[in-house]
Amino acid sequence: KKVVLAYSGGLDTSIILKWLEQSYGCEVVTFTADIGQGEEVEPARAKAEAMGVKEIYIEDLREEYARDYVFPMFRANTIYEGEYLLGTSIARPLIAKRLVEIANETGADAISHGATGKGNDQVRFELGAYALKPDVKVIAPWREWDLNSREKLMSYAKEHDIPVDFAKAGKKSPYSMDANLLHISYEGGILEDPWAEPEDDMWRWSVAPEAAPDTPTVLELRYERGDIVAIDGETMSPARVMSTLNEVAGANGIGRDDLVENRYVGMKSRGCYETPAGTVMLKAHRALESLTLDREVAHLKDELMPKYASLIYNGYWWSPEREMLQTMIDASQEHVNGLVRLKLYKGNVIVTGRQSDSDSLFDEKIATFEEDAGAYDQKDAEGFIKLNALRLRIAAKRRR
Ligand code: ARG
Ligand code: SIN
Repeated sequence: KKVVLAYSGGLDTSIILKWLEQSYGCEVVTFTADIGQGEEVEPARAKAEAMGVKEIYIEDLREEYARDYVFPMFRANTIYEGEYLLGTSIARPLIAKRLVEIANETGADAISHGATGKGNDQVRFELGAYALKPDVKVIAPWREWDLNSREKLMSYAKEHDIPVDFAKAGKKSPYSMDANLLHISYEGGILEDPWAEPEDDMWRWSVAPEAAPDTPTVLELRYERGDIVAIDGETMSPARVMSTLNEVAGANGIGRDDLVENRYVGMKSRGCYETPAGTVMLKAHRALESLTLDREVAHLKDELMPKYASLIYNGYWWSPEREMLQTMIDASQEHVNGLVRLKLYKGNVIVTGRQSDSDSLFDEKIATFEEDAGAYDQKDAEGFIKLNALRLRIAAKRRR
């Protein structure tokens, strides 16, 4: 009996660790990953050791996360319900995959996580785990135990000698937060009233647009096959692209969002998100696609995007239909090569130029208002319009 636990090193997952041993009499393997949440992961080792854990996995997954999850998602210009850039949703499939791989390596038959029974995350972890290890057992303590208040959790911790950092517990954020390279999220607390405006000191990754510098930051992004490969001429790995953009965009007040979303489990939920790099990436990618994608390819991508976004939001990353869509999206990116120039200014991402020497479909000679070279004969437009008007004229007769 062995279980792999997604362990943050914090109080809640430390309680889960102990509770798993107590309730299931099983051995616990801990897994802690750096996916760019901005907190040290090494301290989780000492904590797990102190609790008697023998197999401890601590991994830096930032590059894998950016390269194999975030970047593929941005090739589709993905956005859920017109607003949400899926910063938490897209991190879950990677965690699910590593939980299962570690279970296989250590001979564990179960996985466990600290998501509640009311949210999306439980669905994402578990659909992923079942897809990759069909016979896996899942233990979701929040759905089972009766430690459903802060006091009960604290007294459980005291009872079982789980070290509580009281200084930290005392100034615990009033929000439920989650962070990785793509975003930081805030839910709960005063945000449960959709009319309540968050305090300005809630936001951690960006300055308020009104406090941002009076001079814009100009950036030049180089794309290859739909992915950013260099910023201002400097070649960068996917994770470095993201941390660089997070920094400059956050400093210019970019990426804050405050929304109400539909959770897969049926309820509406209010969330605040900071997604500085993602906000820039979405705008810039669209600008380059506007130059390099065929019209019908671009429009078809846009039609399929909401479906793709829902698949990711609802936890179906590891599904045949998501993989099918990904193949199509990736194929569409063959010609998305070139440069985008942007101005970041007080919360705005302003495109000021786009260019593709090898793949642009934009033909100045055809588009010009001046005399063109003969590729386009204005007389052809008359027949084009008349034939398209035919059924409208027939319908008009019937109406009369
Ligand atoms: N509502 C967002 C989503 O479903 C964010 C969830 C945040 N998760 C968390 N454990 N705090 O993707
Ligand atoms: C949770 O319930 O654990 C966080 C919120 C969510 O998963 O939607």
